[in-house]
Amino acid sequence: MALITKKIKGTEDVLPKQSYRWQFVENIMREESKTYGFKEIRTPVFEHTELFARGVGQTTDVVQKEMYTFDTKGGESVTLRPEGTAGAARAVLEHSLENEGLPIKASYFVSCYRYEKPQAGRLREFHQFGLEEYGTQSPVADAEIICVAQSILDRLGLDKIRLEINSIGCPECRAKYNQALRDYFGGFRDRLCGTCLSRLEKNPMRLLDCKSPEDREIAKDAPKITDYLCDECEAHFAEVKAYLDCAGVKYEVNPTIVRGLDYYTKTVFEFVTDCIGAQGTVCGGGRYDGLIEELGGKHMPSLGFAMGLERLLMVMDAQGIEIPDPDACSLYIATMGDEAKRKAFTLLRRVRECGLIAETDVVGRGLRAQMKYADKIGAKYSLVLGDNEIAENKAKVKNMKTGEQTELALDDSFAERFSVLTLADDSSFEI
Ligand code: HAM
Repeated sequence: MALITKKIKGTEDVLPKQSYRWQFVENIMREESKTYGFKEIRTPVFEHTELFARGVGQTTDVVQKEMYTFDTKGGESVTLRPEGTAGAARAVLEHSLENEGLPIKASYFVSCYRYEKPQAGRLREFHQFGLEEYGTQSPVADAEIICVAQSILDRLGLDKIRLEINSIGCPECRAKYNQALRDYFGGFRDRLCGTCLSRLEKNPMRLLDCKSPEDREIAKDAPKITDYLCDECEAHFAEVKAYLDCAGVKYEVNPTIVRGLDYYTKTVFEFVTDCIGAQGTVCGGGRYDGLIEELGGKHMPSLGFAMGLERLLMVMDAQGIEIPDPDACSLYIATMGDEAKRKAFTLLRRVRECGLIAETDVVGRGLRAQMKYADKIGAKYSLVLGDNEIAENKAKVKNMKTGEQTELALDDSFAERFSVLTLADDSSFEI
């Protein structure tokens, strides 16, 4: 019987004590991508299964082995998104976003679902931040999108993450390359795993990202795509590299990167680290010039990337990167009696309107227990409201660290005066 108080294998909870770490990372991603002109898109968590089969590719591991697919009561086959690119592309097509001008630049935060074997850095439900840009074939766009990813990693304070880039060409170069792969892997038919054998004719490039150790060994000496690029793809790749040089972004060309999804063309890239074990790819992306057409739209060269939030947070931990503590409660009002409770309610509303975190008792504790709670949540100031304070219409606000007390009137000026008091506390604040 399922244990209903245990989470499902391969999923994680983010608890209230940890969520500020996620928000810190997410805020940087939002801010940075905004400076490059990206605006957020939100798409459903499930889509028609066919979208992923066509978009991500029938012969990929994701589609063949990892999708959470089910039939609805209406008999439709739907799938929990295994990634964000296909859904965003579907939305672009459905809403004819190209009419609003090109390029279209979209960012997203999505939860994704893949039925993979869970291990450190590999989950069945995980979270991605991604960018997609539609309607540009310029290598400037390739370099720019890589720059956004690099800027985000820099702002997170991460180092020892290498950028590996490659070009996997267009359908023209791919046809020649696929033949070379068939010739090469054909010589190892008796040693290849079943999945690879079935992919050999249809999509031999998929043999290059097979996870079986023996197939990986064979793949090591396979022909490299970079030797099969057509002149245009070669020139495009050279320009991407030149723009990255202009921006001072360091990279390594790794001709073995092919990515695990079928839609890629030309530039592909990954940001990889060795500090979190085997699942060290924190960001992956590239160009996908044929996807929109594959889904039924006009030719619209596009590109993008996605970074895994769980993996990035693991790297930040491994590298000892400090995330600023979340804001603590500025004011805790302890109350004695019903009238005090009502007064506190009025005062707190105003304090909160000033953008400060403020709390009072909502569980019916006695005064001592209220003060203990104020201590526990790290309240910076406390104030006790009883009959005397109400009668005199003033009370002493106590600095919980220094014990210093400041008398404030309990009238309309309270919230503003209290804000000034807390601002003066902040050593970075100068009048
Ligand atoms: P992807 O390489 O499959 O690409 O995933 C992108 C990132 O998501 C990975 O680099 C990794 O950080 C994270 N990730 C993937 N699978 C897992 C997992 N099982 N557990 C934890 N994290 C994971 C894509 O999804 C493409 N849609 C990226 C893209 C956008 N290409 C163009 N536009």
